[in-house]
Amino acid sequence: MRKLFVFDTTLRDGEQSLGITLNVDEKLEIARQLVRLKVDVIEAGFPNSSPGDFISVQAIAREVKGVVICGLTRAVKSDIDRCAEALRSAEYPRIHTGIGVSSVHMEKKLGFTPEQVVETAAAAVKHAKKYVADVEFFAEDATRGDRDFLVQVLEQVIKAGATVVNIPDTLGYATPQEYSRLISYVMNHVKNIENVVVSVHCHNDLGMATANSLAGIEAGANQVEVTVNGIGERAGNTSLEEVVMAIHTRRDHYGIRTDINTQEIWPASRLVARTAGVPVPAHKPIVGENAFMHASGIHQDGFLKDRQTYEIIDPSTVGASASKISLTARSGRHALKHMLETLGYRMDREALDKVYHSFLQIADIKKEVMAQDLHSIMQMTV
Ligand code: KIV
Ligand code: ZN
Repeated sequence: MRKLFVFDTTLRDGEQSLGITLNVDEKLEIARQLVRLKVDVIEAGFPNSSPGDFISVQAIAREVKGVVICGLTRAVKSDIDRCAEALRSAEYPRIHTGIGVSSVHMEKKLGFTPEQVVETAAAAVKHAKKYVADVEFFAEDATRGDRDFLVQVLEQVIKAGATVVNIPDTLGYATPQEYSRLISYVMNHVKNIENVVVSVHCHNDLGMATANSLAGIEAGANQVEVTVNGIGERAGNTSLEEVVMAIHTRRDHYGIRTDINTQEIWPASRLVARTAGVPVPAHKPIVGENAFMHASGIHQDGFLKDRQTYEIIDPSTVGASASKISLTARSGRHALKHMLETLGYRMDREALDKVYHSFLQIADIKKEVMAQDLHSIMQMTV
């Protein structure tokens, strides 16, 4: 089965989120957890952006082994020099350099002609190659640019020695079909593309980061760039856990594998939420508190007969605690009986009817009926 490389950028693009600043110890703790998760690449930071980021990348490069450690740079010599210095002790160092390729980025941000962009991109890759063998190039805002220009840029950076080419949907603007077509176009038109890794990097501004990444993977990309819990600039990046579990759960469809140790997903999620101070929304796929919670009567009844009726992932696969049945006013007799039995109460149909009646009265007042409430109901009713 084809392997998909997982490039984690929680410590770089994730940390760019509003209000998130992680210190060296916190970054090291997350990096160690990423190793337990078995990601292939850790993007540890942007060394020339601040002295603190330089120190963090350097500390991770020194301590964290057995995985590619990557640093981000602009296509600027001083950035690349500083990044190479930070990565000096890395076992497998990678420099990730790049430049904007859409007309708005070239004209308004950089004030460059397209020819200057091609030249600067190739020169940056050549400069990075003086330090490391593994150089990734990003074509920023690729999805809003001209695709033939993108092909031209990618051919030049591959010629200059890039080992990975990253096609970002920087603004989360593309639809899955468009992104899939763009990746296919790159796969079919860029000379020597078969000699490099093609990477997808999507943002979630329109809620399509996961769908776009998967569409790009289906079109032939073999690296995906993600963050834990999907944290990142604006609406965030593609969530590691969503892509990994989509591929794991739908192996039949994707026919591709990752090396991720899925049981480390929940510990990673909680560590990042706690250290970054960004709580996980309850309904977040895979890692939200409600992701394995069954609340309505029909679902609880089906789940208690056979969990597969309403569950496509066993929570233990992602390191979460067992699925939960939450007793609310939407619950039926089957769920109530099950919960009472777990507390040691057994009763016939008639007694259950009576208890159910009392239970509904409490459930209408409280959001969730807890074990303590059930004990009180039993004392009052039976
Ligand atoms: O979103 C983006 O384009 C990026 C690049 C710097 C890789 O994060
Ligand atoms: Zn990004």
